Amino acid sequence: MRVPFIGGNWKMNLTRAQAAELAAGLRRDLNGLRQVEVAVFPAFLSIEPARAALDGSAVRLGAQDLHWEDQGAFTGEVSGPMLRDAGVGHAIVGHSERRHVIGENNETIRKKLRAARRSGLTVVLCVGELLEEKSQGFTKEVVEKQVTQALEGTSPQEREGVLIAYEPVWAIGTGKVATADYAQKIHHFIRNLVRRIADGPTADAMRVIYGGSVTPENIGELIAQEDIDGALVGGASLKADAFTRIVRTVAERKGGGA
Ligand code: PGA
Repeated sequence: MRVPFIGGNWKMNLTRAQAAELAAGLRRDLNGLRQVEVAVFPAFLSIEPARAALDGSAVRLGAQDLHWEDQGAFTGEVSGPMLRDAGVGHAIVGHSERRHVIGENNETIRKKLRAARRSGLTVVLCVGELLEEKSQGFTKEVVEKQVTQALEGTSPQEREGVLIAYEPVWAIGTGKVATADYAQKIHHFIRNLVRRIADGPTADAMRVIYGGSVTPENIGELIAQEDIDGALVGGASLKADAFTRIVRTVAERKGGGA
């Protein structure tokens, strides 16, 4: 059975004090939660206060990005070993805001994925099509290229620590969530791709999660889909109450209960 995963991507939000407060709220509200893996992804500067506030809680800590080298002359960057040292266990790689706003490509993302795995971080690999690509009927081609190029040449050990987040770009931060049907279709397609790139057991074990305008109101329908193993949540993860409701719904429907 795949353990559901819920990630809270805080993006470039919250001061250190606000991050600590939100983390403390999650620690309190999600106390005793089983069978669901929950991680929050604060901005780099808020990782330490969030870690302190989450100490002893089951909620894990992630980073929104990392560099592909472990150290050196890379001004402004943060590496996998640095994140491990800060108590981080997960890293997002290839978020659409990094692909389309910062300009990262599939090659950069592949290198980052391998760097994260080298440091023992669990990777949330984000893929997804732009609105224009969807309207032209290119969703599957785009997603296939993103998944294939990111996983190309990875070992079974590297793949073991990878989750794929399907995040259609047109659904991120827009309030336009994908229909459960559409999301299921693409999740199923991604799982079959992994079957082709790796093998059946890897595909069956890999968690494929949905992201893009997830709320406490729409998570129930999404998580009911066979190939949707959780969610990466942006806006709704900035409020302890909304995020907790999302986690509890997933725990009730797919985990071992809240
Ligand atoms: P959103 O962001 O929930 O605010 O749409 C999701 C994401 O970017 O991971």
